[in-house]
Amino acid sequence: MIDLTTKYMGLELKNPLILAACGLGASLERLQRAAGAGIGAVVLKSLFEEQLRAEIAGISSELDNNPEAEAFLQGLGLSDGAAWYFDLIASAKEKLEVPLIASLNGTSGAWWPDYAKKIELAGADALEINIGHIPNSMEESSESIEKGIVDTVKAVCSAVKIPVAVKIGQNFSNIPALAGRIGKAGASALVLFNRYYRMDIDLDTMSLKPGPSRSNPENYHDSLRWISLLDGRTDMDLAASGGVYDGQTAIKLIAAGASTVQLCSTVYSGGFAAITSVLDDMEHWMTSRKVENFSQLRGHLSRRNSEHPELYGRLHYIKALVGIE
Ligand SMILES: Cc1cc2nc3c(=O)[nH]c(=O)nc-3n(C[C@H](O)[C@H](O)[C@H](O)COP(=O)(O)O)c2cc1C
Repeated sequence: MIDLTTKYMGLELKNPLILAACGLGASLERLQRAAGAGIGAVVLKSLFEEQLRAEIAGISSELDNNPEAEAFLQGLGLSDGAAWYFDLIASAKEKLEVPLIASLNGTSGAWWPDYAKKIELAGADALEINIGHIPNSMEESSESIEKGIVDTVKAVCSAVKIPVAVKIGQNFSNIPALAGRIGKAGASALVLFNRYYRMDIDLDTMSLKPGPSRSNPENYHDSLRWISLLDGRTDMDLAASGGVYDGQTAIKLIAAGASTVQLCSTVYSGGFAAITSVLDDMEHWMTSRKVENFSQLRGHLSRRNSEHPELYGRLHYIKALVGIE
């Protein structure tokens, strides 16, 4: 009998698959379909800082009786603020049988703890925070950016009792060092990685346009590398996000040290049935290899279990390059 159960941030999951933060987690109906397809936990679509700013601006515009500001916000579709989000948490908590992780996405510091508390009050089991700061200054140092992230994590973790996961991008000088600081700041899990908005140019209209929003199956290698390097060196649980389209990839990420694996683009491409298909693949692989549970597998091929941890990754790199003439 295959046991797919796993623990993530202290939550009991019936399997390690999590619906990643995206529009598929923006309505109760979709969340229920994900649960029906077998997902182990769900992350709601993020509540964006811009929506919260709109809420705050909406209130002050009412106070100032400023119809222009009101109209502007309505034009952006942001005037709904955050109330819908707390309603979604409350109804999903009542109707879903899988753990519910809310998500906050922003760039600056002040409002995070406040909204983290509101999310906890609405009933979420955990919170994922996505600090989507894209550095654009010629003066701001890496240290000051990382300090900003760590300060935000500290502020959120000390504001709430529910566990907090931190979702980061991969463009840092030293991910293990940053991970260590995020763990010390109180986070219970690290999600590797966020997928930043990609930009493109439309040559017909000579204007900017959005790049592809969905990932492709090549993308999982980035999470695989960093999860395998971090496993066993942090108390945080590690969640993989990016490029998971089948059960074999999910298994690889668990062998690298992931506790959970998030799915997004594959569900957009294949519908909610993609969740069932990834689960079936995993079960099939485990049955064929007589692996009964994840404790036999998790981190099996991570740096921690390598004979030469100091050379982990480097040796494979050299081997790969030497093989190509
Ligand atoms: C359409 C779309 C919407 C997304 N919305 C969010 C979001 O609201 N918050 C967030 O943290 N990540 C968001 N993401 C990123 C995903 O959660 C995920 O980290 C990323 O897509 C990589 O996983 P994948 O390869 O399975 O798609 C979104 C991704 C897509 C494709």
